[in-house]
Amino acid sequence: MCGIVGYVGNRSAQDVVIEGLRRMEYRGYDSAGIALVHADALAVDKRAGKLANLEKAIDETPLPSATTGIGHTRWATHGAPNDRNAHPHLGEQRRVGVVHNGIIENFAELRAGLEAEGHDLLSETDTEVTAHLLEREVLAGADLTTAMQNVCRVLEGAFTLVAVDAADPERVVAARRNSPLVVGLGEGENFLGSDVAAFIEFTRDALELDQDQVVTITREGVSVSGFDGTPAEGRPYHVDWDLSAAEKDGHDWFMRKEIFEQPRAVADSLLGRRGRNGLLQLDEMRLSDQELRDIDKIIIIAAGTSFYAGMVAKYAIEHWCRIPVEVELSSEFRYRDPILDYSTLVVAISQSGETADTLQAIRHARTQRSKVLAICNTNGSTIPRESDAVIYTHAGPEIGVASTKGYTTQLVACYLLALYLAQVKGTRYGDEIAQIMAQLEQIPAAITEVLERADEVYALAEEYRTSSSFIFLGRHAGFPVALEGALKLKELAYLHAEGFAAGELKHGPIALIDDGLPVFCIVPPQGRDQLHDKMLSGIQEVRARGARTLCLAEEGDARIEPYADHVVRLPRVPVLLQPLVSVIPLQLFSCELATRLGHDVDQPRNLAKSVTVE
Ligand code: F6R
Repeated sequence: MCGIVGYVGNRSAQDVVIEGLRRMEYRGYDSAGIALVHADALAVDKRAGKLANLEKAIDETPLPSATTGIGHTRWATHGAPNDRNAHPHLGEQRRVGVVHNGIIENFAELRAGLEAEGHDLLSETDTEVTAHLLEREVLAGADLTTAMQNVCRVLEGAFTLVAVDAADPERVVAARRNSPLVVGLGEGENFLGSDVAAFIEFTRDALELDQDQVVTITREGVSVSGFDGTPAEGRPYHVDWDLSAAEKDGHDWFMRKEIFEQPRAVADSLLGRRGRNGLLQLDEMRLSDQELRDIDKIIIIAAGTSFYAGMVAKYAIEHWCRIPVEVELSSEFRYRDPILDYSTLVVAISQSGETADTLQAIRHARTQRSKVLAICNTNGSTIPRESDAVIYTHAGPEIGVASTKGYTTQLVACYLLALYLAQVKGTRYGDEIAQIMAQLEQIPAAITEVLERADEVYALAEEYRTSSSFIFLGRHAGFPVALEGALKLKELAYLHAEGFAAGELKHGPIALIDDGLPVFCIVPPQGRDQLHDKMLSGIQEVRARGARTLCLAEEGDARIEPYADHVVRLPRVPVLLQPLVSVIPLQLFSCELATRLGHDVDQPRNLAKSVTVE
């Protein structure tokens, strides 16, 4: 939700900022803008639309050379996505320039105050007030750092602000409250970014900041303080992935690259989880065994794809640990007055670690004395920092807006959590846990097998290219996969797609079935309970009404053949682990169909990767 970059050093600030924005564009692409400090003035360009529009404008009318600059790529909240509302915003005298991510909740009141003083604000954004307020401070004699501290104390809401002052060209100042910001530490240069991808090309040493902190970067160093000016320190850390992880590696889309990275991502997420004694160990599990034994209920909170990972987790945790699990959308959780106490474990699943709905939900849970465990892919992000424990997913950076390896590695983390709880609570024997771990360790090879059949799925995408509606059916752990398949298609191909529990179909949705409607059916493995039989009945019901059935079924499942218009084969895996392989063809299908329809797969319309507003 808006990408931010700041730089001061010896390089061309334009190059560093534009490159950083390219890597931040997944966070929003409604507009892009840059401000460079040159000869005691700000040189600014900003354009509606993708970064390419800004780059074209700069090519046609070059900006002066500069070694200090800030940049922004926007996901619009206040004001339409046009040139005028694009960031950076400037103070009245064009001395201070600001970029912002988040929402200033009291901006209307602040704006009214500024207008009463005679300020003329040019945009409809909440951001512009901060530029005017900061400039008012520096004109009154404050340096930009003090100005930022003073202004942040009057702002309400969530924000990351990054500012430059034309009269102080060697300093970039930023602040954060409930919105992401990291510092990149270089030699004779320093960087700011919404995440480390903004500067990964130049340094892998980073500094994590707390809430309500102001950071000043110069060539020589970095200083941190609270909003009240009290000196503070960030936490240094080293980024364990490099530039190549942030590049497309020959694929047409980041999403496709990330789909194909899943065998490695899943394997990495499993690495180092078994101790010498054969017992499971979760390094960042900062909850004691006794605290885990005291848990009598788990509530999983998450949004979107992460929510669907949580739905799968419910099946695994309840089956292996016999602890009741509720799964709830984080945006709904806080507002229904949930019943929680110290014996409830709240599990927050978030790839980005910055989703505002999920962050607010965990804060609420902690005020109710519940312990919070985060499952997260982003080191240094807010959600794990504000949680009591964390399981990192080790997927590497996920740049494509639609989550793929983020989802499968979240599933792995959920299985690990379930097995760990089973170990601590003694609800499964050690050899059973070891057997499931061994099955999990086979999953990267199973995903590779599915990926090797990508062409079959691409052919289906061509065949159904003109369909305007799709249905996805699943049962048990396949039900969340059906929901995820439908979400992928909606967000990438902009088509009507719905996921249903197959058994629910006859209670209403079957009325949607029409001649030729493509229906993806996630068929459970054979021979376990009656799941497979029940799914077969559901498939027959839709086929009898004219649907075209696209069945994902395990190798050797011959019973499906009479009822399937197409079968995509899945390797044989246990029923609870099947989501890890059955989701892959659905990811490939959406990616390919969207490509064939001419859509931007990595940056679907109206979306952003990290949703840092509620
Ligand atoms: C869909 C997708 C989103 C995210 C959701 C939560 O492909 O990526 O639905 O899953 O916005 O994001 P995180 O996991 O970062 O909290």
